[in-house]
Amino acid sequence: MDNRPIGIFDSGIGGLTVLRQIQRLLPGEDVVYFGDTARVPYGGKSKSTIIKFSTENIIFLLEKNVKLVIVACNTSSALAISYLQKVFSVPILGVIEAGINKALEVSLNKKIAVIGTRSTIESGAYQGRIMKKNKKAKVYSKSCPLFVPLVEEGILSGKLVQEAIQMYLKGIKKENIDSIILGCTHYPLLKNEIASYLKGINIVDSAKEVAQHTQSILEINDLLSNNHNAKESYYVSDDPEGFRKLAKLLLKKAIPKPKRVNV
Ligand code: DGL
Repeated sequence: MDNRPIGIFDSGIGGLTVLRQIQRLLPGEDVVYFGDTARVPYGGKSKSTIIKFSTENIIFLLEKNVKLVIVACNTSSALAISYLQKVFSVPILGVIEAGINKALEVSLNKKIAVIGTRSTIESGAYQGRIMKKNKKAKVYSKSCPLFVPLVEEGILSGKLVQEAIQMYLKGIKKENIDSIILGCTHYPLLKNEIASYLKGINIVDSAKEVAQHTQSILEINDLLSNNHNAKESYYVSDDPEGFRKLAKLLLKKAIPKPKRVNV
């Protein structure tokens, strides 16, 4: 039993998809969320920059006395996770492994697509790990850089979204894939439109899988907590009001006002 909070960080708002699943599965856990809104997007930045930002974000969360850190950002998970796990002694979970395990479980023909930011896809993190786990798997990858700004603008459906989806995913649609991993925090918010374009294809949203992985790590390490009035605190590096408004739109529920901090 450990009543300290779980720390979650993302480059911005998208990691709220992970937070939402954590709160559903682990309602007795306090959570501290940090969105690096001053430095978003991470998706086109270099490995050294992403390592630097991610390190600073974790140092901030540790100051809030967290017992475990979820790196909700796929780009950070792809480029920085092994460094972070070496440097910090607190358990640090990325989001990539969980999505891959689920995709391999649900895919019948092992033809799997992965979509993400440019840095995530170019890192080859998903592709390499899928092939390592199943040598017969065929992986199709595609970066979809317009998806993040669409979500950040609160545009989750309609013509613009459908055109972007068609532009990025029409090649993948021809490849007889049966499962696609949404390898970016923001993409689950476009899930309905993606699913209606890729009819019949399994959509793997790693947020749910990450919550389950977190639960098992907490159990194994005897770190679960059972707070009756679990607290949620939000911190951002810029524009707390913009974050709060967008969070309400995306989560369909109000969140406490985030505090602005420098990391
Ligand atoms: N959070 C990032 C990710 O999951 C997407 C947004 C960004 O580019 O910073 O890859």
